[in-house]
Amino acid sequence: MAGESGVDPKKVPCVTLSTGEKIPCIGMGTFGSDRYSPPEVSAAAAGAIRFGYRLFDCASVYGNEDLIGRVFSGAFTSGIVKREELFIISKVWNDMHGKGDVLLSLAGTLKNLAIDYADLYLVHWPFPNYHAPGCDGDARNPNSVPFSADGFMDVWAQMEKIARMKLARYIGMSNMTVPKLKAVLPRCRIRPAFIEMEQHPSFQQQELFDYCVKEGIQVIGYCPLGSPNRPERDKTPEDAVDMELPETAAIASSRGIHPAQVCLKWAVRRGSIPIPFSVHEKNYKSNLLAVMEDPLTDAEMEAMKKDERNCRLVKGQVFLWPGAKSWKDLWDEDGKIWGT
Ligand SMILES: NC(=O)c1ccc[n+]([C@@H]2O[C@H](COP(=O)([O-])OP(=O)(O)OC[C@H]3O[C@@H](n4cnc5c(N)ncnc54)[C@H](OP(=O)(O)O)[C@@H]3O)[C@@H](O)[C@H]2O)c1
Repeated sequence: MAGESGVDPKKVPCVTLSTGEKIPCIGMGTFGSDRYSPPEVSAAAAGAIRFGYRLFDCASVYGNEDLIGRVFSGAFTSGIVKREELFIISKVWNDMHGKGDVLLSLAGTLKNLAIDYADLYLVHWPFPNYHAPGCDGDARNPNSVPFSADGFMDVWAQMEKIARMKLARYIGMSNMTVPKLKAVLPRCRIRPAFIEMEQHPSFQQQELFDYCVKEGIQVIGYCPLGSPNRPERDKTPEDAVDMELPETAAIASSRGIHPAQVCLKWAVRRGSIPIPFSVHEKNYKSNLLAVMEDPLTDAEMEAMKKDERNCRLVKGQVFLWPGAKSWKDLWDEDGKIWGT
């Protein structure tokens, strides 16, 4: 069905999963970044469905699934879209890693989103380390612990159970690294179909991206525009501004388009699924339109490599455990998992 005065969702390019299923090459994020209220985010989701978006990235910790659920049910009852035409993602938060908790968390999400299955359910972070929503960057929880493959596999076994119960069509992981994936993939009975990771021109994560491709895992890229309105705790003075990077800006200027559109064309041409967020109609519309025409050329893709700055924005420092020195300890930058 065509989106109301929008694009025909069937004309949005697709990615093909290892199962052969085709899903949209772009989706919409729904994290209000502690700055946009649930009514603002859900109103944008409603407008996005009408315009032709069919993939939505939700999470219990975003605190807005109940209002987004009302948007979904409204869209189903008014006939704008059928349930099976949407690809709905949600995630289990770090405080729900205990025994039996994953099913409980998913049940709450399904109730809030007013659906009876998720298309994809992700482990949001590979740590059971809780921080209060909206906390500042210096907040630490003394009960935080480093990554443990055994601990993670206990959570993953619960994820496999919900997949077997068909409460989630696919399961996946988020905020992983190559060393962590190497530690857990051989132990999975049901492998992750997706990995969600931070990905934008100044933080391309080429090694992790290539690893996922090699393993047949579809990548979803978060903060695809460099998250200019991210929470204050995720900002440091040395962070790059993606939409002002030289190659990104030069390609935008030569094509007469906004740098946001360059970031999204780059992500899609690379084979990742970007999930940009905006509450502004003009922006979320132009984001979808960007990936429907005029992909970047080979030369432009090559040039975009020069915008890499190894600039991680979501550093995760609030998840640090006693004994860890810096946020880098979360990300296995020397190729080893902390403490191993
Ligand atoms: N798995 C995880 O741990 C994780 C972590 C972070 C994020 N995520 C997901 O990824 C999604 C996207 O990340 P994000 O929201 O942090 O970053 P983002 O999509 O890179 O940036 C969003 C910001 O860019 C601006 N923007 C959007 N479209 C624009 C356009 N066409 N032109 C100019 N500015 C534009 C928006 O400002 P305006 O509102 O002013 O338009 C918005 O605040 C989240 O909503 C969430 O679903 C997942």
